[in-house]
Amino acid sequence: MCGIVGYVGDQNATPIVLNGLRRLEYRGYDSAGIAVLSNGNVEVRREAGKLSKLESLVQNQPIQGTIGIGHTRWATHGEPTARNAHPHIGNTGKVVVVHNGIVENYLELKADLEAEGVEFHTETDTEVIVHLIEQFLSQEEPLEEAVRKALKYLKGAHGIVVLSTMAPDTIIAARIGNAGGVVIGLGDGENFIASDIPAILDHTRRMLFLESHQMAVVSKSSIQIQSLDGKKVHLEEHNIGWDPIAAEKGEYRHFMQKEIHEQVRSLTDTLAGRVDFDDGRIHLPQLNLSPELAGRIKKIILTACGTAAHAGMVGKILLERIARIPAQLEIASEFRYEDPIVDSDTVVLAISQSGETADTLAAMEEGRKRGAVLWSIVNAIGSQAMRVADGYISMQSGPEIGVASTKAFSAPLVDLYMLAVLLADLRGVINERQRHQLVSDLRLVPDLVGKCLDREKDVLQAAREMRYIRNILYLGRGIQMPIAHEGALKLKEISYIHAESYPAGEMKHGPIALIDRDMPVLALAPRDQWYEKMISQIEQARARGGNVIVVATEGDQRAAELADHVFWVPETPWLLSPVVTVIPLQMFAYHIAALKGLDVDQPRNLAKSVTVE
Ligand code: F6R
Repeated sequence: MCGIVGYVGDQNATPIVLNGLRRLEYRGYDSAGIAVLSNGNVEVRREAGKLSKLESLVQNQPIQGTIGIGHTRWATHGEPTARNAHPHIGNTGKVVVVHNGIVENYLELKADLEAEGVEFHTETDTEVIVHLIEQFLSQEEPLEEAVRKALKYLKGAHGIVVLSTMAPDTIIAARIGNAGGVVIGLGDGENFIASDIPAILDHTRRMLFLESHQMAVVSKSSIQIQSLDGKKVHLEEHNIGWDPIAAEKGEYRHFMQKEIHEQVRSLTDTLAGRVDFDDGRIHLPQLNLSPELAGRIKKIILTACGTAAHAGMVGKILLERIARIPAQLEIASEFRYEDPIVDSDTVVLAISQSGETADTLAAMEEGRKRGAVLWSIVNAIGSQAMRVADGYISMQSGPEIGVASTKAFSAPLVDLYMLAVLLADLRGVINERQRHQLVSDLRLVPDLVGKCLDREKDVLQAAREMRYIRNILYLGRGIQMPIAHEGALKLKEISYIHAESYPAGEMKHGPIALIDRDMPVLALAPRDQWYEKMISQIEQARARGGNVIVVATEGDQRAAELADHVFWVPETPWLLSPVVTVIPLQMFAYHIAALKGLDVDQPRNLAKSVTVE
């Protein structure tokens, strides 16, 4: 999710690399850096914060050379400081690396390298890559071979770019899996490398796209593409005609749609390095959760706003059902006025995409004042909600640009599930067989989400037919109730349609009076312990003439017969089912708003980060 730019040619690389990074700026990042080969040495400049800070640094300490690489970082491991910013330089000073992705086995690799006497200087996972390459270079391997060998050790998905004094005319770029692309831009006597097309679109429209397990050796006059086992590969050249912003959205019309589709990857990333499927264990090292602390927690108060609060509602169910710890969700804007009952055996757990939401921070402060243990689940590493917490889990979703939150909703659901399993294990409330089962269910998640995304056409069809509705009622029960709230919020905020969400069992106590032919109902009825009750609720809505959409488990004929539209979801273990059922609701809200021609990514009156009370 970071940005990468590289240049090799006859011009000064520094302004080209910095301009390329600027083209990626609107996506958000927390630090940046550049490395240029200058008079046979690698010169590196890195800064925390905005690109303008790096630019000032470069102005004060200029670097000149005709080959260079740069990076904007979205932190996943280690705070967004200058030291943790890329490029990372090895201990011999001969190799620098920029990287997109997460080295899932970096702790293991780091321990091995440290045992061999390698000194580390940052908290990042990326640093292991540069040291690995140097290890092979010290065995007299040529750079290309050293990179190839190093890559074989890395678990996870990566985009990697390497520059070295050992091969001063070439940049090596590689891609493993799906951690963002690697694009090679073809110039005349010069070539470019980037993670994203807009970074180099000012210079060329002729591009090659590396596929997974391919490596490019790029000099100013040649580009060799090879597979990671060294075989030559031919890549087709593409001519790109898009404008930069459209290029960034790729095949999607809006960032929200792109981010909905990114969830297979963001969920894979949030599992990366945390779940050991072989021994059935969860690792959340940044939480600083000792067995002693796990044992003494009496209550967990989840606190958040908006979409993040809906994730918290699911979290309450997960923590109680899996870990048997009393949990409650408190809306952050209310919490500090409630004179809450909190002591040192209470955990206050904040959930926030931005980590800067004023109400959420105030709720954390209230928890701190009353002596609680403070945890956070955040997407923006280095944000206030991460810094003030005693421990945190990072969502690893990458920057979210659409104001309506999507991928930063599904990731914390998985994070909360992992947390619940870890607590259950440490408190001894699950046995080994149960732990293995709960952990192995996580493996299914990205694939199940992918299956929901494949059903986008059905959702689009329903959106076409229903785009003129003025009201809609979302119904759910149990673990689907927060998803009803979330689906209704998504629709409200981007389509401006009045959507209400209700626990289905409450309908008979009043709201059923609302139902007539003009009040459609969207019911969440996957096959779970609430299924029969949901079906009878759907029958009642139907009997009163309401148009009905049902979110149902694939193959459920009963639901299909009752519904005007069905959003099919694959069968999913019930504790993880919210991750799956929310997907069609996100797509439904998106398509209605897009069909109405509304500003999907920047809906009226809303801001991405609400930093005022
Ligand atoms: C809705 C949405 C908001 C945020 C809320 C909290 O789509 O995005 O409801 O969830 O403003 O923001 P964070 O998560 O940044 O604290």
